[in-house]
This record gives sequence, C-alpha cells and structure tokens, in this order.
Amino acid sequence: MSSASGAGRVKPVTVRDFIARKANGEKLVVVTAYDALFGRLVDESGVDAVLVGDSLGNVVAGMDSTIPVTLDQMIYHARMVRRGVERALLIVDMPFLTCQAGAERALLNCGRVMQETEAQALKIEGATPEVLAAVRSVTSVGIPVMGHLGFTPQSVHALGGYRVQGREKEAAERLVEDARALEHAGAFSIVLELMPAEVAARVTAAVSIPTIGIGAGAGCDGQVLVLPDLLGLNDRFTPKFLKRYASLADTVRSAVVAYGDDVRGGRYPDDEHSF
Ligand code: KIV
Repeated sequence: MSSASGAGRVKPVTVRDFIARKANGEKLVVVTAYDALFGRLVDESGVDAVLVGDSLGNVVAGMDSTIPVTLDQMIYHARMVRRGVERALLIVDMPFLTCQAGAERALLNCGRVMQETEAQALKIEGATPEVLAAVRSVTSVGIPVMGHLGFTPQSVHALGGYRVQGREKEAAERLVEDARALEHAGAFSIVLELMPAEVAARVTAAVSIPTIGIGAGAGCDGQVLVLPDLLGLNDRFTPKFLKRYASLADTVRSAVVAYGDDVRGGRYPDDEHSF
C-alpha cells in the first residue's frame, strides 16, 4: 500500500467515510478485483471500495463454487490487489470455514489476513451464532467487518443452488433480524445478495449501516458487481441482475484472432515493431 497521507497524495476512503455515505444519502460503488492491474484500473475509476472476493474461485480459477478457495489463495490475490489500490477501501473476503468454526480461530484467521495483505476490512458470510460471535470478536480488536446475507455462496449446497433468498414472509423477516444482529455485533456494512428488491429495501431501512446489493434491487445503499461480469469478460454468466458495461470477451477474442492472423501472414512483427 502506498503512503497516501503526504501532501498531494490521494486521500484514501476509510470505513468511516464509507458509513457516512449512507447518512449523506450518497450511493456506494463497489467492484471486485483479483490482481494489481485491475485493482489499479478500478481504483482510478473512482470506486468507493474494492472487494477481493472469493468469487475468484469461479471467475479466476474456473471452479464451480467458492468452497475450495483457501485462506492462502485469498492472501495471495489480496496482496496483488493491494499493490494496485491506493484510494478505494480495500475489503478482503474470508473464505469457507475460516470464520464459522469458533471465534478464536476466526480471530486468528482474520488477524493473519489483515497483517499479510494490509486490507482495511474483511467480509464474512452469514449470521449463524458462530459467525455473530466471530464478528464480535474480530471487531473488538479493531478489524472492520462487512457482513453478507441472502444468497451466501459458501452455503450454495445447503441453499439448494444459486437462487433468490427471502421470498417467503418468515425468510424475509429472518433477513431483517440477521441484519440487525450483524449491526449489533459490530459490522460496518452488509452485502445483500440475491433477494427481492422490497426485502432488501426493508433490510436497508432496518439498519443504520450501509447495505451493498448484488441482485437485490435499487433500495440498497450501494451496489457491488463482480468485475469480469460487468466488463463482459465472463460472458457465459448471464444472471437477470447483471448489466454489462462492456463486451470485453469479444474484444479479447477478436484481438487475439487478429494477432494470430498477422503472425501467420508474416505481418507481425514488421519494421515498426523490430529493432
Ligand atoms: O466473492 C464475491 O465476489 C462476493 C460479491 C459477489 C459480493 O462476495
């Protein structure tokens, strides 16, 4: 992380700034990144926060779920992103089972990620009694925690696949209660993934910390998207909530086809590109 405190340096977004956006009615913009290059590009685009999501299991490693992603892999990618991000708040996902098997283990795992990556905050999925105890313990030592409710990808098998949560009255009520419990445990923000827009809006109204939606409608305090999805790089993933802002998969394919044609046709390298 570059020192951003000197004169003329960029002023980094802090957790306090992040929380204040909700009070000021300003929407928060969050995207994922998994390496230094894209970390720098999204940081230069003025996002409020960059999330090193364990979605890297799907979009970088080609896995079917986030469950196989390890703590070492998260640290490896977060260190790369850290080198690219100077201004945005850097949040790192805690992978499967690192915070669900006891508060002491969670504290040690979270402490390790903070020390080895220089992240400013961590994200933990769920609101089971074990997770709430972990959030209390981790925040009590000064580590900011973002919660994650609704569709929690680390529980994909228990949830019966990739599906919208909170459609039934009791399930919606539970989401509101879970959000309150996370705020009470010390979370500074909560991701709301895949839930009806009106349920996310109710959750958002029930807590004073910002909610960040993904497939959760416009009533959240901000939005997060997975970068390769919004760039149209991951073009086989087509959920209803996703808006693509570019078609980079097509750009990549045609650029590489053009390069191959030039090499095969003897047009590259030419004099201009030779010493
Ligand atoms: O891992 C991830 O990228 C996430 C976002 C989808 C919120 O958790």
